[in-house]
Amino acid sequence: MRIDVFTLFPEAFAWFERQVHVSRARDHGVELNLWNYRDTTPLRHCQVDDTPYGGGAGMVLRIDVVWAALEAAFDCPPDRLAATRRIVELTPRGRQLDDALAAELAGGDLCVLCGRYEGIDERVAHLVSDRVSVGPYVLAGGELAAQVLLDAVVRKIEGAVSNPESVAGDSFSPDLGGALEYPHYTRPAEFRGWEVPAVLLSGDHGAVERWRRERLGDGERREQS
Ligand code: ADE
Repeated sequence: MRIDVFTLFPEAFAWFERQVHVSRARDHGVELNLWNYRDTTPLRHCQVDDTPYGGGAGMVLRIDVVWAALEAAFDCPPDRLAATRRIVELTPRGRQLDDALAAELAGGDLCVLCGRYEGIDERVAHLVSDRVSVGPYVLAGGELAAQVLLDAVVRKIEGAVSNPESVAGDSFSPDLGGALEYPHYTRPAEFRGWEVPAVLLSGDHGAVERWRRERLGDGERREQS
Protein backbone atom coordinates (compact mmCIF):
# COMPACT_ATOMS: atom_id res chain seq x y z
CA MET A 1 0.00 0.00 0.00
CA ARG A 2 1.16 3.50 -0.80
CA ILE A 3 0.08 6.62 1.09
CA ASP A 4 0.96 10.06 -0.31
CA VAL A 5 0.30 13.25 1.63
CA PHE A 6 0.46 16.71 0.02
CA THR A 7 0.97 19.62 2.38
CA LEU A 8 2.69 22.96 2.85
CA PHE A 9 4.01 21.69 6.20
CA PRO A 10 5.53 18.21 5.91
CA GLU A 11 7.39 18.81 9.18
CA ALA A 12 4.01 18.75 10.97
CA PHE A 13 3.98 14.97 10.39
CA ALA A 14 7.30 14.25 12.19
CA TRP A 15 5.58 13.11 15.40
CA PHE A 16 3.05 11.01 13.49
CA GLU A 17 5.81 9.26 11.55
CA ARG A 18 7.51 8.27 14.81
CA GLN A 19 4.44 6.44 16.17
CA VAL A 20 4.86 2.70 16.67
CA HIS A 21 1.87 1.67 14.55
CA VAL A 22 3.15 3.82 11.68
CA SER A 23 6.65 2.24 11.85
CA ARG A 24 5.06 -1.19 12.04
CA ALA A 25 2.89 -0.46 8.99
CA ARG A 26 6.04 0.63 7.12
CA ASP A 27 7.78 -2.59 8.16
CA HIS A 28 4.79 -4.45 6.67
CA GLY A 29 5.28 -2.75 3.30
CA VAL A 30 3.32 0.50 3.61
CA GLU A 31 5.09 3.36 1.81
CA LEU A 32 4.33 6.78 3.36
CA ASN A 33 5.43 9.79 1.29
CA LEU A 34 5.16 13.45 2.26
CA TRP A 35 5.17 16.03 -0.54
CA ASN A 36 5.48 19.80 -0.18
CA TYR A 37 3.40 21.79 -2.72
CA ARG A 38 6.13 24.45 -2.68
CA ASP A 39 8.77 22.05 -4.03
CA THR A 40 6.98 21.69 -7.37
CA THR A 41 5.05 24.94 -7.75
CA PRO A 42 5.23 26.31 -11.30
CA LEU A 43 5.02 29.86 -9.91
CA ARG A 44 7.83 32.24 -9.10
CA HIS A 45 9.01 32.91 -5.53
CA CYS A 46 7.59 29.53 -4.36
CA GLN A 47 4.08 30.98 -4.57
CA VAL A 48 1.32 28.43 -3.91
CA ASP A 49 -1.82 30.45 -3.16
CA ASP A 50 -3.72 33.50 -4.30
CA THR A 51 -6.57 35.82 -3.32
CA PRO A 52 -10.13 34.54 -3.93
CA TYR A 53 -12.00 35.61 -7.07
CA GLY A 54 -14.99 37.73 -6.06
CA GLY A 55 -13.11 39.14 -3.08
CA GLY A 56 -13.17 38.14 0.54
CA ALA A 57 -10.76 37.19 3.28
CA GLY A 58 -7.93 34.70 3.13
CA MET A 59 -5.89 32.93 0.50
CA VAL A 60 -6.78 29.93 -1.65
CA LEU A 61 -4.39 27.13 -2.64
CA ARG A 62 -4.09 27.24 -6.45
CA ILE A 63 -5.27 24.37 -8.61
CA ASP A 64 -2.24 24.63 -10.93
CA VAL A 65 -0.01 24.16 -7.86
CA VAL A 66 -1.92 21.05 -6.75
CA TRP A 67 -1.82 19.69 -10.31
CA ALA A 68 1.97 20.20 -10.55
CA ALA A 69 2.52 18.45 -7.20
CA LEU A 70 0.46 15.40 -8.26
CA GLU A 71 2.13 15.32 -11.67
CA ALA A 72 5.58 15.26 -10.06
CA ALA A 73 4.64 12.49 -7.63
CA PHE A 74 2.89 10.02 -9.94
CA ASP A 75 3.42 8.48 -13.38
CA CYS A 76 -0.16 9.32 -14.28
CA PRO A 77 -2.01 12.45 -15.43
CA PRO A 78 -3.54 13.94 -12.24
CA ASP A 79 -7.07 13.86 -13.67
CA ARG A 80 -6.79 10.07 -14.16
CA LEU A 81 -5.21 9.33 -10.79
CA ALA A 82 -8.54 8.79 -9.02
CA ALA A 83 -9.01 5.65 -11.14
CA THR A 84 -5.96 4.12 -9.44
CA ARG A 85 -6.45 5.12 -5.78
CA ARG A 86 -8.65 7.10 -3.37
CA ILE A 87 -7.74 10.78 -3.46
CA VAL A 88 -9.00 12.62 -0.39
CA GLU A 89 -9.32 16.36 -0.04
CA LEU A 90 -9.54 17.34 3.63
CA THR A 91 -12.16 20.01 4.10
CA PRO A 92 -14.81 20.88 6.69
CA ARG A 93 -17.29 20.59 3.79
CA GLY A 94 -16.56 16.88 3.33
CA ARG A 95 -18.20 13.63 4.46
CA GLN A 96 -17.62 13.14 8.16
CA LEU A 97 -14.91 10.58 8.96
CA ASP A 98 -16.09 7.44 10.75
CA ASP A 99 -14.82 3.91 11.36
CA ALA A 100 -16.38 2.55 8.15
CA LEU A 101 -14.73 5.22 6.00
CA ALA A 102 -11.35 4.61 7.70
CA ALA A 103 -11.69 0.88 6.90
CA GLU A 104 -12.58 1.67 3.26
CA LEU A 105 -9.59 3.98 2.86
CA ALA A 106 -7.26 1.33 4.32
CA GLY A 107 -8.20 -0.99 1.45
CA GLY A 108 -5.80 0.38 -1.16
CA ASP A 109 -3.44 3.16 -2.17
CA LEU A 110 -4.37 6.53 -0.74
CA CYS A 111 -3.53 10.12 -1.53
CA VAL A 112 -4.38 12.95 0.90
CA LEU A 113 -4.52 16.63 -0.02
CA CYS A 114 -4.17 19.12 2.84
CA GLY A 115 -5.51 22.61 2.35
CA ARG A 116 -4.54 25.74 4.27
CA TYR A 117 -6.04 29.15 4.78
CA GLU A 118 -9.37 29.20 2.88
CA GLY A 119 -8.73 25.73 1.41
CA ILE A 120 -8.09 24.53 -2.13
CA ASP A 121 -9.55 26.01 -5.35
CA GLU A 122 -12.93 24.28 -5.91
CA ARG A 123 -11.74 22.85 -9.25
CA VAL A 124 -9.83 20.26 -7.21
CA ALA A 125 -13.19 18.42 -7.44
CA HIS A 126 -11.99 17.26 -10.91
CA LEU A 127 -9.10 15.40 -9.24
CA VAL A 128 -10.41 13.90 -6.02
CA SER A 129 -12.52 10.84 -5.25
CA ASP A 130 -13.52 11.91 -1.71
CA ARG A 131 -13.89 15.01 0.39
CA VAL A 132 -13.51 14.25 4.07
CA SER A 133 -14.06 16.26 7.25
CA VAL A 134 -12.82 15.17 10.68
CA GLY A 135 -15.65 17.00 12.42
CA PRO A 136 -18.02 19.97 12.31
CA TYR A 137 -15.48 22.63 13.23
CA VAL A 138 -12.83 24.54 11.31
CA LEU A 139 -9.11 23.84 11.73
CA ALA A 140 -6.42 26.22 10.52
CA GLY A 141 -5.30 23.65 7.97
CA GLY A 142 -5.56 20.06 6.85
CA GLU A 143 -2.44 18.76 8.61
CA LEU A 144 -4.06 17.81 11.91
CA ALA A 145 -7.10 16.47 10.05
CA ALA A 146 -4.78 14.34 7.86
CA GLN A 147 -3.09 12.88 10.93
CA VAL A 148 -6.45 12.04 12.51
CA LEU A 149 -7.55 10.35 9.30
CA LEU A 150 -4.26 8.51 8.76
CA ASP A 151 -4.06 7.37 12.38
CA ALA A 152 -7.49 5.75 12.04
CA VAL A 153 -6.59 4.30 8.61
CA VAL A 154 -3.17 2.93 9.62
CA ARG A 155 -4.68 1.11 12.64
CA LYS A 156 -6.75 -0.87 10.13
CA ILE A 157 -3.72 -2.06 8.14
CA GLU A 158 -2.67 -5.63 8.86
CA GLY A 159 0.45 -5.74 11.02
CA ALA A 160 0.27 -2.10 12.18
CA VAL A 161 -1.12 -2.99 15.62
CA SER A 162 0.58 -5.95 17.31
CA ASN A 163 -2.64 -7.49 18.68
CA PRO A 164 -5.30 -7.59 15.92
CA GLU A 165 -7.94 -8.31 18.59
CA SER A 166 -7.45 -4.83 19.98
CA VAL A 167 -8.42 -3.29 16.59
CA ALA A 168 -11.26 -5.76 15.96
CA GLY A 169 -12.74 -4.86 19.36
CA ASP A 170 -12.27 -1.08 19.03
CA SER A 171 -15.16 1.24 19.71
CA PHE A 172 -17.34 1.72 16.57
CA SER A 173 -15.97 -1.50 14.96
CA PRO A 174 -18.32 -3.97 13.20
CA ASP A 175 -17.41 -6.56 15.90
CA LEU A 176 -19.04 -4.28 18.48
CA GLY A 177 -21.94 -3.48 16.16
CA GLY A 178 -20.68 0.11 15.99
CA ALA A 179 -20.98 0.51 19.79
CA LEU A 180 -18.50 2.04 22.21
CA GLU A 181 -16.11 -0.33 23.95
CA TYR A 182 -16.52 -1.22 27.66
CA PRO A 183 -14.43 0.70 30.25
CA HIS A 184 -10.96 -0.50 31.28
CA TYR A 185 -9.27 -0.57 34.71
CA THR A 186 -5.77 -1.45 35.93
CA ARG A 187 -3.82 -1.41 39.24
CA PRO A 188 -4.16 -0.17 41.91
CA ALA A 189 -7.45 -1.89 42.76
CA GLU A 190 -8.26 1.03 45.07
CA PHE A 191 -7.08 4.65 44.76
CA ARG A 192 -8.30 7.45 47.05
CA GLY A 193 -11.32 5.32 47.89
CA TRP A 194 -12.16 4.76 44.19
CA GLU A 195 -12.51 1.04 43.68
CA VAL A 196 -12.33 -1.15 40.62
CA PRO A 197 -15.70 -2.93 40.10
CA ALA A 198 -15.48 -6.12 42.20
CA VAL A 199 -16.60 -8.33 39.30
CA LEU A 200 -13.35 -7.56 37.43
CA LEU A 201 -11.33 -8.93 40.37
CA SER A 202 -13.54 -11.99 40.83
CA GLY A 203 -11.81 -14.30 38.36
CA ASP A 204 -15.29 -15.28 37.07
CA HIS A 205 -14.77 -14.93 33.30
CA GLY A 206 -18.47 -15.39 32.53
CA ALA A 207 -19.43 -12.61 34.93
CA VAL A 208 -16.71 -10.35 33.53
CA GLU A 209 -17.99 -10.97 29.99
CA ARG A 210 -21.57 -10.16 31.05
CA TRP A 211 -20.46 -6.99 32.87
CA ARG A 212 -18.54 -5.86 29.78
CA ARG A 213 -21.41 -6.64 27.39
CA GLU A 214 -23.81 -4.63 29.55
CA ARG A 215 -21.53 -1.63 29.28
CA LEU A 216 -21.03 -1.56 25.50
CA GLY A 217 -22.17 1.76 24.13
CA ASP A 218 -22.26 3.43 27.52
CA GLY A 219 -19.77 6.19 26.76
CA GLU A 220 -21.55 8.77 28.94
CA ARG A 221 -21.93 6.60 32.06
CA ARG A 222 -19.53 7.24 34.96
CA GLU A 223 -18.85 4.15 37.01
CA GLN A 224 -19.43 4.86 40.72
CA SER A 225 -17.44 2.97 43.33
N1 ADE B 1 -9.60 21.66 7.33
C1 ADE B 1 -10.06 22.62 8.17
N2 ADE B 1 -11.00 22.15 8.99
C2 ADE B 1 -11.17 20.83 8.67
C3 ADE B 1 -12.01 19.80 9.13
N3 ADE B 1 -12.90 20.00 10.11
N4 ADE B 1 -11.89 18.58 8.56
C4 ADE B 1 -11.01 18.37 7.56
N5 ADE B 1 -10.19 19.32 7.06
C5 ADE B 1 -10.27 20.54 7.61
